Amino acid sequence: MLFDIGIQREKMHFLSITDLKAKEIMELVKKGIEAKKRPSKYDNALKNKNLLILFEMPSLRTRLSFEVAMNQMGGHAVYYSISESTIGKKESIADFARVVSRYCDALTARIHSQKTLEKIAENSSIPVINALTSFEHPCQVLADFMTIYEKKRKLEGLKLAFVGDGNNNVTHSLLYGASLIGMDISVACPAGKTFSPQEKVVKEARAFAKRSGSKIEILRNPAQAVKGADAVYTDTWMSYRIPAKEKKNRLKAFRPFQVNKKLMGKAKKNALFMHCLPASRGYEITDEVIDSRQSVVLDEAENRLHVQKALLFKLIK
Ligand code: CP
Ligand code: NVA
Repeated sequence: MLFDIGIQREKMHFLSITDLKAKEIMELVKKGIEAKKRPSKYDNALKNKNLLILFEMPSLRTRLSFEVAMNQMGGHAVYYSISESTIGKKESIADFARVVSRYCDALTARIHSQKTLEKIAENSSIPVINALTSFEHPCQVLADFMTIYEKKRKLEGLKLAFVGDGNNNVTHSLLYGASLIGMDISVACPAGKTFSPQEKVVKEARAFAKRSGSKIEILRNPAQAVKGADAVYTDTWMSYRIPAKEKKNRLKAFRPFQVNKKLMGKAKKNALFMHCLPASRGYEITDEVIDSRQSVVLDEAENRLHVQKALLFKLIK
């Protein structure tokens, strides 16, 4: 091995957190922590390698953390907006993926449709990374697990509560990831299909939980979900995929699911507050909680950089 980073290198796609085994998630979490402590270990680890960043939706954290990670590892990142691209307009997704594979060493895509991402991956001979679809956000969850591990020194056996939009990329990845690694997860969301995690996700996560010994709950009562939680997580009520015209109805449905001081008081005393950001302050979260000492939102954002270095090193040969 050229770099003694201790990661098993493997050419594969990372489209879902379920593409990793529990052992691999833990390996990346620990390597992310190491990359944060000793960033110079990764200097030049991806020298002359090129990552295409293909985005359909805006981004601060994901775009910057991938670009900076590649730069710090001696490689390059090329940003390409789907609105300026030929993909799906002048040429097929398959041709696009085949051409990119001839120039780049990996591709990370933020694209609404998980199916389109899968189609890109099927036709790529380079690793494809999910930088957020409407279905999953696996890179975020790697950084979240790294953050919890930094603060609590373990993941297995902890309880995570997610309060808010259940039918959501971050919620889905948390359900999958927690059930794989043996962390209990309680989701509190409004009743009905629109706001609940997709049935397929709950079913598959329950099967993982059976193996790892963790517990999954889908509840309608936020206080019940956060009871005994080691970390309380929320996300925007208006994800990138949601049309603006739905705002009024959604705000009404989600109002009882705001994470505020009163709700945080029902979790464990030393519970972490987590949010993937961007946050809509005053809606899913109050200033008082997001700016409190319990809040680790900036650590989550920073850890995107470190854990993605470990991920990129694992995937790019
Ligand atoms: N958390 C996250 O993915 O943020 P961006 O949308 O800014 O990338
Ligand atoms: N659920 C949010 C996550 C943003 C990082 C969205 O899709 O907009």
